[in-house]
Amino acid sequence: MQLPPPPPPPPFSDTTVGLQSFLTPVPLGLDMIVILFSTLLLLLLCLKWRQPRIHKRLPPGSMGWPYVGETLKLYTENPNSFFSHRQKRYGDIFKTHILGCPCVMISSPEAARIILVSRAHLFRPTYPTSKEKIIGPEAVFFHQGAYHSRVKKLVQASFLPSAIKGSVSEIENIALKLLATWKDTSLNTLQEMKKYAFDVALISVFGNNNKEDLEMELEGIKHLYQCLEKGYNSMPLDLPGTLFHKAIKARKLLNETLMKLIEKRRETGEQSGGLLGVLLGANDNNNNKLKQELISDAQIVDNIIGVIFAAHDTTASVLTWILKYLHDNAELLEAVTREQEEIRGMLLDANRGLTWEDTRRMSLTSRVIQETLRRASILSFTFREAVEDVEFEGYLIPKGWKVLPLFRSIHHSPDFFPQPDKFDPSRFEVPPRPNTYMPFGNGVHSCPGSELAKLEMLIFLHHLTTTYRWQVVGDDDGIQYGPFPVPKQGLPMKVTPKMKKNVT
Ligand code: HEM
Repeated sequence: MQLPPPPPPPPFSDTTVGLQSFLTPVPLGLDMIVILFSTLLLLLLCLKWRQPRIHKRLPPGSMGWPYVGETLKLYTENPNSFFSHRQKRYGDIFKTHILGCPCVMISSPEAARIILVSRAHLFRPTYPTSKEKIIGPEAVFFHQGAYHSRVKKLVQASFLPSAIKGSVSEIENIALKLLATWKDTSLNTLQEMKKYAFDVALISVFGNNNKEDLEMELEGIKHLYQCLEKGYNSMPLDLPGTLFHKAIKARKLLNETLMKLIEKRRETGEQSGGLLGVLLGANDNNNNKLKQELISDAQIVDNIIGVIFAAHDTTASVLTWILKYLHDNAELLEAVTREQEEIRGMLLDANRGLTWEDTRRMSLTSRVIQETLRRASILSFTFREAVEDVEFEGYLIPKGWKVLPLFRSIHHSPDFFPQPDKFDPSRFEVPPRPNTYMPFGNGVHSCPGSELAKLEMLIFLHHLTTTYRWQVVGDDDGIQYGPFPVPKQGLPMKVTPKMKKNVT
């Protein structure tokens, strides 16, 4: 079919000449230049008049370069100096632009409390969609509102002290098994801690079940998880061969494995404790429940994967820092060892393993953990997003902007923690001022696994300090991100058996 010829162009009117001149270069007279210039000026004035309130009320700060903003600076500078430099210049609330998003950073305890606690409904948690794809969109931390609080209650119930008390000997066995492989060897601390924290996460999620078939299933889950993890921190490029693509494939297989496990547990009627047991049990008494109160299997799977994610890299990074700080503070290491040897003596006399009550007697070791959480602040900040335009301390936070409470800045403020760069566990002999210490977050999204994390660290430190000594290999200063800040190269070290004291 032939198209009809196009109609002839209409003659230009006076106004179309003006517009046309922006599109095609035509020679202009002086009068035309004056008209154009004044039109442009008028346009700019109009725009400025329409938006002045928003611009005036945005927090102070620099948005950096177009698109990249200040991302490179954040990830190449020492995080302490990135935040403190801006805080000194602009105050406790400032704007910036990172990872392609306009952000407001907040470094006062009161303001952080408002974002995370008292006006939390105005600031939803936010993650890149690639992370949601890998973990699963139904994981508790991607949500707000009714679904979040229903699942959060169940997750919290699985990790309350009353629920984890019974896991002490199981966790102790994992620690002993790992430490037995450490005799006179060189190793990478972070990798070893990941093994430990991962195994602890698995038993807390799947329950204390020593059956052989579960052990095999867990090995399979571990393998798939490793593929998942590699993709989590890679470029989100879903093309064959990329780490991200492999992670998405592993995620599908993980889904199938977990679905089968759920089915099996339902068929046999054994729930075996752990988070999975609690989630499966949540649908009991179906008759009393509305449909929207039931938890689907897909939601169970996403939450299982999500909790394992949240549990192991965090704890492994903190444990790595603890070993570094104890290594660097010989007197403190000896004091911690004395505390642990006293407990060890009791256990040997009674011929038994650790109990929950023993871990409550480890007060100095607990303060070392508290101080490590402050000093290392592995979660430098968290991300929220304003769900609407929010008036905040005299500024406007526009809808869609990210809001970042800066835990690290608060933990490193000399106003709340004198000599913040000093590793000094004794500062926790008195409780910190309210809202100044948030290693596990605050408010509705605060960490449900804090007690488990502390428990597994105490158990590990008990056996480590009473059995071994360790020497950092190579350059022992510097930080790397993977994704949390950890000592450079994951803290390579050489381990030797601890010398027994001569008894005279
Ligand atoms: C030392 C280790 C850990 C640290 C430093 C840590 C820190 C945090 C922080 C700061 C948050 C709040 C994030 C936010 O507000 O956006 C959080 C949330 C969370 N953590 Fe942990 N965590 C640790 C270990 C664990 C463990 C062992 C588990 C599981 C047993 C766990 C499960 C979770 C979950 C499920 C959330 C999301 C809660 C929600 O959105 O309501 N974490 N964690």
